[in-house]
Amino acid sequence: MCGILGAVIHDGHSDLKGILLPGLRAVEYRGYDSAGIAVMNGEGITVNKKAGKLSILEETLGEAPIEGSVGLGHTRWATHGAPNDENAHPHWDHQHRIILVHNGIIENYATLKDELLAKGVQFKSETDTEVAVNLIAFYYDGDLPTAVRLAGKRMQGSFSMCVMAADQPRLMVGIRNEVPLLVGHGEDATYLASDITAFLAYTRDVTYLEDGEMAVLSDEGTKYFDVQSGREIEKTVERVEWNIEQAQKGGFDTFMMKEIHEQPSVIRQLLERHLPSPNEPVHMPQLDELIKDNDFRLVSLLGCGTAFHACKVGKYVLEGLAKIPCRVMYAHEALYHQAPISNSALTIAVSQSGETADTMGAVKSQKAAGSKIVSICNVVGSSLTRISDQTLYTMAGPEISVASTKAFTCQLTMIYLVAIWIAEKFGRADAAELKHLKEELLAIPDKMSAILQSEKQIEHLARVYRQVRHFYYLGRGVAYPVAMEGALKLKEISYVHAEGYAGGEMKHGAIAMIEPGFPSCILAPKSPLLEKMVANMEEILSRNGEVMVITNAPDRFSKYDVHVFPFPDCPQVFSPLLMSLPLQIFAFYSAKLRGRDIDQPRNLAKSVVVE
Ligand code: M6R
Repeated sequence: MCGILGAVIHDGHSDLKGILLPGLRAVEYRGYDSAGIAVMNGEGITVNKKAGKLSILEETLGEAPIEGSVGLGHTRWATHGAPNDENAHPHWDHQHRIILVHNGIIENYATLKDELLAKGVQFKSETDTEVAVNLIAFYYDGDLPTAVRLAGKRMQGSFSMCVMAADQPRLMVGIRNEVPLLVGHGEDATYLASDITAFLAYTRDVTYLEDGEMAVLSDEGTKYFDVQSGREIEKTVERVEWNIEQAQKGGFDTFMMKEIHEQPSVIRQLLERHLPSPNEPVHMPQLDELIKDNDFRLVSLLGCGTAFHACKVGKYVLEGLAKIPCRVMYAHEALYHQAPISNSALTIAVSQSGETADTMGAVKSQKAAGSKIVSICNVVGSSLTRISDQTLYTMAGPEISVASTKAFTCQLTMIYLVAIWIAEKFGRADAAELKHLKEELLAIPDKMSAILQSEKQIEHLARVYRQVRHFYYLGRGVAYPVAMEGALKLKEISYVHAEGYAGGEMKHGAIAMIEPGFPSCILAPKSPLLEKMVANMEEILSRNGEVMVITNAPDRFSKYDVHVFPFPDCPQVFSPLLMSLPLQIFAFYSAKLRGRDIDQPRNLAKSVVVE
């Protein structure tokens, strides 16, 4: 959940503050409770760290460069210990010989701490990180890679670290276990980071460390080792497609609004890759490779948060279109529930980051039980993609805003394509119907652009409801998970309490909450369930509730005293793609009008790499 970055300058030294702070800014979405940097110059290591956002550290440091040969930095999402200056990274060992930054959790830190306390180590912070650095220092006798390796063998949990020694001015060691760590090969420096975006301004050439691997960066180049055996290993360099412009705001005030506006183009590109024309079958070589026979009996869909909502839409779509039974579970629930699974099951794991610990854990257990794994993922080379049998990349470009938007609609688009692929391959739907659906799917990006033209209308709705403290979102069928997603968006960035319900469930309890000042958003796509949603609305209105309707059948609501946002016509099955946009924009303006920090909402982090 934290962002880490290390840099080793190739010749001499450079302004490391000027490298580390912009790099940390790019990964700040991973955590923003505190920030810190450590820079090695000829006279030792200078450390600066501050509680709060990176901007506070930036202000403290001012304009002057901090020159050095090796440096590391950190943005923190607190796990052990409060977000204060003392607990901020980097952390020294008690004798100031070793310093490091850490992402993840050392699960056995309490045992290791007792052991170190017995050896006379004194601790200043409450962090598991300080235990790790003192353990490395305990093994350190001038050979940093060996000390990191020996300590790494003793630490349990999910962690990645960048480590420096005060008496080694041209050396940095990185170690990875279950959370990402990448080496970036730049012209002037080599980097270690939790995320490509941290060094994207300098290089797109990347080496991905696997679990249980270490990287040693020095004047001799970069060497890689297996932590358990100490054996040197060969690694390859891959070129990533992302560019630095994609990781910047591009004229928008926030990443969230930029990413909302990117949706028509990223979905158009995704469709072009897999469905160049409605007259051709869906092109998915990854599935051709994996699903040769019609022999899988169950699809198990796994994800968390927004990705889970995509999975829930996926169940309606895959069962309805591809006629295959589906099971949907939160990954963290699936992990500890021994649901029967067999080698005739296909698991589809959905994750923007590909680093979510819960999703990783569930996928590993389903894989061990014999299921084939397909991941739908945005981040090339992420941990999830490395344990999957095949990956369908959404290729939406970096999603920096903590609130997921374009990743969600790209995940949905990929699920539609998978459903059509299965239906076509195994003859589960009528050819004319499939062609019509393909035409309609290809028309979605233009319809999304049309919705974005109506942003002002949605902003107005947010103004109407700017004082409310609660909101219901109601939908049925494919609109039900969209209601859940709409509620999540509102909660996470505006801190307004919101719940997404299946329309039919209202009368079983939730309707008791309805009163003036507790509005409901009714999702009413044209479908056989439209009249059921009208009935939901009437029940709310008759109890003095207020209603906002998102619909492509606006005439049906014209005689009611409700706010209506109309969206372009489309088949019901694709309506989640279009309904999501007004809900995202509504959440955005609701947060903006309340003065919230939209891209970095409180208590959250972009990638949840701890359980
Ligand atoms: O990277 P992932 O898609 O696996 O992340 C899963 C959730 O943590 C994520 O969708 C989260 O719910 C978002 N903040 C929602 O906007």
